[in-house]
Amino acid sequence: MMIEERYQSEREKWDEIAQEKWDEIYAYPPDSGFLRYASGDIGLTGVAEFIGSLKGKRVLDYGCGLGAMTVLMALDGAKVTAFDLSRDSLAVTARRASINNISSLVSLTVAAGENLPFAEGSFDVVFGRSILHHLVPKISQPELCRVLKKGGKAVFSEPLGMNPVLSFVRKHVRYADKNPVGVDQPLTYEDILKWSRGFSEVHVREIQLISMLERGLKSQKKFPGLRRLDNYLLRRFSFLRRYCRIVVIGLLK
Ligand SMILES: C[S@@+](CC[C@H](N)C(=O)[O-])C[C@H]1O[C@@H](n2cnc3c(N)ncnc32)[C@H](O)[C@@H]1O
Repeated sequence: MMIEERYQSEREKWDEIAQEKWDEIYAYPPDSGFLRYASGDIGLTGVAEFIGSLKGKRVLDYGCGLGAMTVLMALDGAKVTAFDLSRDSLAVTARRASINNISSLVSLTVAAGENLPFAEGSFDVVFGRSILHHLVPKISQPELCRVLKKGGKAVFSEPLGMNPVLSFVRKHVRYADKNPVGVDQPLTYEDILKWSRGFSEVHVREIQLISMLERGLKSQKKFPGLRRLDNYLLRRFSFLRRYCRIVVIGLLK
């Protein structure tokens, strides 16, 4: 598929989702912030510790979507630039920033990860959730390296694509909160290597082995027993890590 066709199909899909969410944006409760949120979200395990304080930092939210993380990072005092291909998603992000009274800390740009309109070394921190696997690594990865300052940190939480059973489920089974499948491809270890090129430190952490079953259940219920079992299994049997649902990748430039 040509790159413009990829963009077109992604834009249409995410614009439509954004339009449906327009009325579902509220102010966060007092004391909300990204680091606090990330500490309690299994998909962002280790992210808060890796990034550290966001106060005054120039942060880039990679493929920000509806801006939930953009706004939480601004609530922590970061100066957040966020980009996305989907104009309607950015409109929702702007609305969320305004409702939360932090518009002055947020700057939004329609852009593709393959061609970023930011100068070299513009950001102290890059954060992305479920975005790298939508991009073409060969042309996007040099852009990531370019816009991050030397000594800067990038961290991504992405679907991992090494578990054949999970790949089948992702393609063919309907479950709660499932995003429509498009050009995106959950990351393989080979992809992670491509994204890591040129960084001085690379940290890879696989998350959710058995506890991925939580995702299939309609309720928001958490199962601490499953998470404890995961911790035990993943520590004790490292070969199981590849079968996890999510991977968090921390990169130091
Ligand atoms: C799964 S959503 C994740 C959104 C957000 N990061 C979050 O965690 O809620 C993927 C996002 O990537 C955006 N996207 C897809 N391909 C892109 C590209 N090539 N460049 C920039 N954004 C892209 C989509 O518009 C969509 O908002």
